[in-house]
Amino acid sequence: MLRRLKRYVLSGWKRFTRNYTYAFHSFRCDTRMIRFGKFPSSSAPELTRTQRMFIEWNAERLQISYADSLERYLASWRLLPQGHRGMDYREFCVLSQAIFNVFCNDNPSEIYDAYKLHAQLHMLRFLSYNKQNRLENAVLEGLLKRDFISILDYGCGLAHESFSLAESLKEMGARVMLVLVDIPTLRKDFLIWMSKKLPLPMEFIDCDRNTPYPTLPSCDVCIATEVFEHTHDPVRVFRNINEALAIGGYLIANIGDHVEEYFHVTPDLACLRAQVESCGYTRVAPSVFRKQERHAIH
Ligand SMILES: C[S@@+](CC[C@H](N)C(=O)[O-])C[C@H]1O[C@@H](n2cnc3c(N)ncnc32)[C@H](O)[C@@H]1O
Repeated sequence: MLRRLKRYVLSGWKRFTRNYTYAFHSFRCDTRMIRFGKFPSSSAPELTRTQRMFIEWNAERLQISYADSLERYLASWRLLPQGHRGMDYREFCVLSQAIFNVFCNDNPSEIYDAYKLHAQLHMLRFLSYNKQNRLENAVLEGLLKRDFISILDYGCGLAHESFSLAESLKEMGARVMLVLVDIPTLRKDFLIWMSKKLPLPMEFIDCDRNTPYPTLPSCDVCIATEVFEHTHDPVRVFRNINEALAIGGYLIANIGDHVEEYFHVTPDLACLRAQVESCGYTRVAPSVFRKQERHAIH
């Protein structure tokens, strides 16, 4: 743990000193620009539907006009090259996490507070994603044989992929239900608002300090992307998912090892891979696994 922390701080410090001059000067320049209402001319993003919905939700939340909400979002985006999607924003997140480590870090007893503390930072990053449903049409058609399809998204972020999958299935005539599982932060309010707006039936299940591994309702597809490495017990998360997932159902997940960094509390996922294999899952596409007949978990 100590070695990991030392390596993390050292690598963060190296990155920070490399970018220090740029960060310092651009920050000073940007704060002056904010004061005078001028922004650097870096290009505005072409907005995705999730971004447009966020701007609408934020306008309602703050009781301001859509135009003002849009301007606030773009002003924040334009402060750094490639906005919240770029490397500079990532560096800013890394630095903020290191600075606010004083209040809470990613150890098992503090990690839920840390996610809440950095919620807005993460939300802007997630808003810059444009992920879509990755299941092929043949798989979707197979799923349509079920009367009702339940999609569970574990560690959902902004649930890009599960919303997209649910909408594709709905367009094909299916009855769908979304179950989003995550640490409750400001994102939860937005996701509830968004599901009502679309509309898509949705239930949100909280993971928190008191219930870190909630029991999951049964589902036909489980999306668990970029989340196992964030949990202190990925095998336990997988066992819960496996219990919930119907036979013949699909698990969309990346289970390769991850780089060691803040919030990647279990970067080595070898135990998880062994568990997935011993439960008889077959890989049907990169990051897509199909659950076969029932296997006992050892
Ligand atoms: C890197 S993001 C991935 C978000 C989304 N799955 C995606 O692929 O865009 C990790 C997500 O896992 C959530 N998360 C982290 N630890 C968790 C835990 N112990 N239980 C449930 N969710 C967790 C975070 O709040 C965040 O939404």
